[in-house]
Amino acid sequence: MKESTVSAGELELLMNSSLEVDIQEFLDQMMIYRSGIKEIRTKLEVLDDEFQTKFAYNPIHHIESRLKSIGSIMSKIREKGLEVTIGNIKSNVTDIAGIRVICNYLDDIYRIEDLLLAQSDVKLLRRRDYIKTPKQSGYQSLHLLVEVPIFLSEGAIPIPVEIQIRTIAMDFWASLEHKLKYKTDNEVAEDLRYRLKICARAIQELDTEMQNINNAIADRNS
Ligand code: GTP
Ligand code: MG
Repeated sequence: MKESTVSAGELELLMNSSLEVDIQEFLDQMMIYRSGIKEIRTKLEVLDDEFQTKFAYNPIHHIESRLKSIGSIMSKIREKGLEVTIGNIKSNVTDIAGIRVICNYLDDIYRIEDLLLAQSDVKLLRRRDYIKTPKQSGYQSLHLLVEVPIFLSEGAIPIPVEIQIRTIAMDFWASLEHKLKYKTDNEVAEDLRYRLKICARAIQELDTEMQNINNAIADRNS
C-alpha cells in the first residue's frame, strides 16, 4: 500500500466522469483524508518509539497506508446505486484513509489497539475482531474504524480512518489470498481456497506458539 496523492490519470478520470462534485472540493476533501492517515501514522510511530526507548522493544514491524483511488471510491458509490457527491462519499465510504499496522506478535496487536484508543482525540466508530472470529476465507486481522480530528484554518474536522492490525504471518497469508480474488470461480480456485484455509489454521498455531516462546524468553530474562 502506497500513500499517494491524486495522480494525473486519476484527475483525468475525475474530469471525464459525469460527477456532481466540484473537483476542487473533491481534492480538498482528499487532502483531509490524507491528513487523517498522517495523524494516525504519527500516533502509531510515537507509540512504537516510546516502546523502543523504554523497553528496547518494537511492537510494530512496519506500517503501510493508502488513500483509496478515485476509481474505487466512485465504483463503491455506484454499487450502492447512489449519485457521486461529496456528501455521499463522506457518509458511505469509510475506508478512504486506510492504514495497515503489521506487528511481530499477537499481543502487540491488542497492545497497539489499547494505547491508540486510550488517546482522547481518537474515537472508535467500529471494531471487528477477525482474529477471535476469522472470516469464512480464513482471513485474520483486527479492523478498527476510528475518527480523528484534523485541525484546519476553519476549525477541527473529524475524519474516519480504517485501521487493519495484523501479524507478519497474517499479512503474508492475506497478500497471497488477495491474488485469488482475481481468479475466476473454477475448480482450481476452489482447491486453492481450501489449501489457503489450511494455511490460515497453521498460521493461527504459528502465531500462538511464537507468542508463547517470546513470553518464555521474556520470563527467563526478567
Ligand atoms: P464488513 O464491511 O462489515 O464486512 O467488515 P470490514 O469493513 O471489517 O471488512 P471488509 O470485508 O469491508 O474488508 C475490508 C478490508 O479488509 C479489505 O479491503 C481487505 O483489505 C481486508 N479483507 C477483508 N476480508 C478479506 C479476505 O477475505 N481476504 C483478504 N486478503 N483481505 C480481506
Ligand atoms: Mg467494510
